[in-house]
Amino acid sequence: MIPSILPTYNRAPLSFVKGEGTWLIEQDGRRFLDLGAGIAVNALGHAHPALVEALTTQAQALWHTSNLYDIPAQRKLADALVEKTFADTVFFTNSGTESCELAVKMARKYHYEKGSPDRTDIVTFEGSFHGRSSAGIAAAGGEKMTKGFGPLLPGFVHVPWGDHEAFHAAITDTVGAILIEPVQGEGGIRPLPDQCLKGLRDLCDEKGILLILDEVQCGMGRTGKLFAHEWAGVEPDIMMIAKGIGGGFPLGAVLATEDAARGMTAGTHGSTYGGNPLACAVGAKVMETVADDAFLAEVNRKAGLLRQKLEGLVAAHPDVFDHVRGSGLMLGLKCKLPAADVVKEGYAHQVLTVPAGDNVVRLIPPLNITDEELAEAISRLDAAATQVKRDAA
Ligand SMILES: Cc1ncc(COP(=O)(O)O)c(C=O)c1O
Repeated sequence: MIPSILPTYNRAPLSFVKGEGTWLIEQDGRRFLDLGAGIAVNALGHAHPALVEALTTQAQALWHTSNLYDIPAQRKLADALVEKTFADTVFFTNSGTESCELAVKMARKYHYEKGSPDRTDIVTFEGSFHGRSSAGIAAAGGEKMTKGFGPLLPGFVHVPWGDHEAFHAAITDTVGAILIEPVQGEGGIRPLPDQCLKGLRDLCDEKGILLILDEVQCGMGRTGKLFAHEWAGVEPDIMMIAKGIGGGFPLGAVLATEDAARGMTAGTHGSTYGGNPLACAVGAKVMETVADDAFLAEVNRKAGLLRQKLEGLVAAHPDVFDHVRGSGLMLGLKCKLPAADVVKEGYAHQVLTVPAGDNVVRLIPPLNITDEELAEAISRLDAAATQVKRDAA
């Protein structure tokens, strides 16, 4: 019999009932160190007092009005994002995949308005992930996500990761945009080298193509800059965000330059819940906290510490791990034994990690994890790796 919850997830047998910072408490009382942060969502950990305060204060005042009216909390957050990024304008969504939908629509409308309605193709990359909506799965294109769901939304050209020849061959007159994650998350923590991002920007400028960055997972301070593309010193035309911006409350956004957004006039897009007062009150507090130089400096310091400790872990378990990769507090352990076994053994040692593609264990902890918690995490991962090796022998 089908369970009451549609069985689209293989869930671990864990039921958490409370969260405190980097810790999750199971219903049986066990405390788990959370290096997954709800898949890079709980940027400030669980039940952060400032976020609880922002949410409850807003909850006591007003929950929902609709985008028929001005929403002060939404305006505040949009102003902060515009001030701190390349963007001139922001549309709020409730998730990453909704941000993908709008990014695709915006790019196509841009070329339509410019008199090039044929420039509908969007170049994307193998191993990418842009969400589970029809545009999201068509954009990523992987068989696992698309099989059986056809006909797929047309207009996506998929290029193997790192294949320059295939990439240049894909750039035809019908291409209107390139969509890429600066650091692939689901694909296995694969950072795009800064030189490549710069090269993409130059090519887009030369050919009149829009550069869309998906920073749903790698954005909001995760790599040690507010947004990952800042490391390469280039700016996108359109950027999708979600996850960390809401700190655990559903919130996403599309950020764009005035030029890229030129086609999005009144009536061309909308959302009932996007940018609602509750989400934006929390988002504004997350933004205020994360978009702060001292906070980001700490993320970078801790990222260095974690990376160093993980290198040590790899050296101590050469049969289990191959290498460490990633950026900031978005790190991956490329495994030799199945990554799923390491994640599962982590449960037994009360440390939560997240599997990713390419046999990688993902470490995406809250950005405010403490040094002591990092040390404790490594000690638990060390014990888990020892057991995985033993079981494999
Ligand atoms: C890079 C990227 N884009 C888009 C999405 C989709 O976001 P959501 O699950 O909020 O729809 C994700 C989710 O994992 C993601 O990692």
